[in-house]
Amino acid sequence: MTTKEPRNLEREEIDRAIARCEASSTALAFAYGVQERLGYVPERAVSRICEVAGVGEEDLRRAIDQEDGLLDVPLGLHRVLVCTGVTCARRGGANLLRQAREKLGIDAFKSTPGGAVRLEPFRCFGQCAQAPTIRMDGSLRGAMTEKRFDLLLDLFLRDEV
Ligand code: FES
Repeated sequence: MTTKEPRNLEREEIDRAIARCEASSTALAFAYGVQERLGYVPERAVSRICEVAGVGEEDLRRAIDQEDGLLDVPLGLHRVLVCTGVTCARRGGANLLRQAREKLGIDAFKSTPGGAVRLEPFRCFGQCAQAPTIRMDGSLRGAMTEKRFDLLLDLFLRDEV
């Protein structure tokens, strides 16, 4: 039996964001492109941008720190990951992601306006037997139903300011 490696779809979004920028963009322009798509500039984006733009990682980190408009951590007190891997998607994971988007009023990789929740799709936590699975603030929850998910999201939404 092979173990599936969990894949945060964030990596793919970073590559899409970089591909949408002009090839001749500065490293900071790439960083803004990534933030527009993901809401912040993740650490893994820094190395990817540096590869593409040909600059040093320390230089880019320093530039991001000095740039008021860029964030190196996402907004969102609680992080909700919904598995959209094949097994979970077939067993209701796709519906759970749609439910969260509607209830929270945000797209994937975005945070609610009051900063309580950040929503991200994720491809396979390696716990397919428990599908559909979600992870809320680091806690994996399997056999998720729409009703339970709704209640859990309500708990997090109490922290909306
Ligand atoms: S598809 Fe494997 S945990 Fe969701």
